[in-house]
Amino acid sequence: MSQDEANLEARLEGQAAFEPPESFVEQANVSDPGIYDEFEENWPDCWERAADLLSWDEPYDTVLEDDDAPFYEWFTGGELNASYNCLDRHVEDGAKNRAAIKWEGELGETRTYTYGELLNEVEAFAATLRDLGVEEDDVVTLYMPMIPELPIAMLACARIGAPHSVVFAGFSADALATRMNSADSEYLVTCDGYYRRGDALDHIEKANEGLADVDHDVSDVVVVDRLGDALEHSLADNQCDYDELVEANAGASVEPVSRDAEDMLFLMYTSGTTGKPKGVKHTTGGYLAYTAWTSHSVLDIEPEDTYWCSADIGWITGHSYIVYGPLALGTTTVMYEGTPDYPEKDRLWEIVEKNSVDIFYTAPTAIRAFMKWGSQYPEEYDLSSLRLLGTVGEPINPRAWKWYYKHIGDEACPIVDTWWQTETGGMMITTLPGINTMKPGSAGPPLPGIDAQVVDANGDEIGAGEAGYVTVQNPWPGMLRTLYNNDERFISEYWAEYSDEETDEWVYFPEDGAKLDEDGYITILGRVDDVINVSGHRLGTMEIESAVVGVEGVAEAAVVGGDHDVKGEAVYVYAIPEDDYDGDDELQERAVEAVLDSIGPIAKPEDVIFTPELPKTRSGKIMRRLLEDIASGNELGNTSTLRNPDVVDDIAEQVGEN
Ligand code: PRX
Repeated sequence: MSQDEANLEARLEGQAAFEPPESFVEQANVSDPGIYDEFEENWPDCWERAADLLSWDEPYDTVLEDDDAPFYEWFTGGELNASYNCLDRHVEDGAKNRAAIKWEGELGETRTYTYGELLNEVEAFAATLRDLGVEEDDVVTLYMPMIPELPIAMLACARIGAPHSVVFAGFSADALATRMNSADSEYLVTCDGYYRRGDALDHIEKANEGLADVDHDVSDVVVVDRLGDALEHSLADNQCDYDELVEANAGASVEPVSRDAEDMLFLMYTSGTTGKPKGVKHTTGGYLAYTAWTSHSVLDIEPEDTYWCSADIGWITGHSYIVYGPLALGTTTVMYEGTPDYPEKDRLWEIVEKNSVDIFYTAPTAIRAFMKWGSQYPEEYDLSSLRLLGTVGEPINPRAWKWYYKHIGDEACPIVDTWWQTETGGMMITTLPGINTMKPGSAGPPLPGIDAQVVDANGDEIGAGEAGYVTVQNPWPGMLRTLYNNDERFISEYWAEYSDEETDEWVYFPEDGAKLDEDGYITILGRVDDVINVSGHRLGTMEIESAVVGVEGVAEAAVVGGDHDVKGEAVYVYAIPEDDYDGDDELQERAVEAVLDSIGPIAKPEDVIFTPELPKTRSGKIMRRLLEDIASGNELGNTSTLRNPDVVDDIAEQVGEN
């Protein structure tokens, strides 16, 4: 490191606050600080600003309907179609030849779809879905990796009013079956395989395994041929080739169906405290308005931009900020199929330079990996097209924030650290890049119109410097409407903790801990339920536990998250073998296999530790916090309240050895 660089590092190291660059502010979509008051004073009508970003077939009568809270409804009486808003209207406005999706495969092949071409593709696939018998309100499952056919299928579903349920391609066969069963989904679109680190991965075999466990008839399965000759596969009787079907419908014209604002646009399953994943329901009007509005105000997206979110569409970030938000605004959205280090660790920067990317949105775990690899990789490329950077998915440590600011943004791009969730549909707590001072490590204030407060266990607001829990005290258009077929769980999961049913005051509880500072900035501390965040992916420890206890030879298991310098958190399994079993390598391997089978490689345990006992309180509850501290290598607090304090040293010793 040169002296200049060392001085720069030292300066950044000591800097706790950063102002947005003047050059950014001058051109920002939102730069008037008055927006906070304006939204507060006009709430809920302020949300018309979001709705105005869309084209409505029928204007709405009421912005917010709260008669049946917390089953809030937004823009009631309004009708619209999401695919029309993401495609047709841009074509009608003269943007037919603007790139909508720029896709790059892992091996380097590229495909660009202009808005005109994307519309044609979507119509052809919408016609195909209709031919297969898909009707309005049928749930279509999309089990696909990052290939253009995924957003095409999503928009085709939206066009005919069939909600989609996208299952992340990295999830296991079991996970697919669970989600199809829960949603009573009779249609599946999948693909033969995809590339990962240069290898052709078989995907259809996993899809077929999952289908074997679906508890109802699946009428049709459409299979995209991604790999061509790289993977031989045959199709079962109810399976058909995507290209053949679409070719037969080439040039088809499919009118976008007018959907009620409150009609379901999609389901997205996510992990919660208890075993089964939750089917989060998002609707057409509120969700689309909210993702378009936050793409405009937070990501500062303009139609002329090339925007890249490096998430996977199989998670909410990809739904909201690769597909719906950016396309609703008519911008060019980049999609990359593969891993960031294939064939080299400079892959992402090569894509940024090649496409002159203006806005880049990624996860802290990726930034920590880039840091570890070193700044020589981005330095080889011209990244000066970048105007704004974003992060999402987990807390970002100030060091990673500053590395991103300096080495990717060249100290010229604001960074938005956006806190939100699958359930919130879009961003909730973040700075507005054209207005607010940035404080590395702190997400920022709640967005205009969002009344997020940090409270103590009783629900009372806490003072600056204290830690408590995030709550949202008023509804917002992008919020989930319920959990699919489970209104009761919707209430108990999100509203029971802090609401007062008698006075009809409803408070949303996202189950995150947080700290507040004197400027009202919120620093997110992480989940306070049994959910862990591995590389920005949300995993339920109970789901992992139930996979492990299903293994023959395992009597009891506890799963916790331990600190990890790149992944944020990693999965640690502590298990008691049954009497006749040793906690040997073989049992360890079977436990790992069970987790891979039940969830997928993202949940792969960092370590499986067998122990004759788990640390328990006198009342018999497993002391998870202690297990977390052991996994994280933290100093252990007082263990005297345990029924079996001796076990702690045994376990800590084993973790140290592994
Ligand atoms: O704990 C918070 C964390 O991710 C959780 C939501 O996960 P998921 O529904 O999978 O959505 C991820 C993408 C929106 C939250 O409860 N989280 C998300 N963003 C941040 C974050 N934690 C800290 N800072 C963030 N910016």
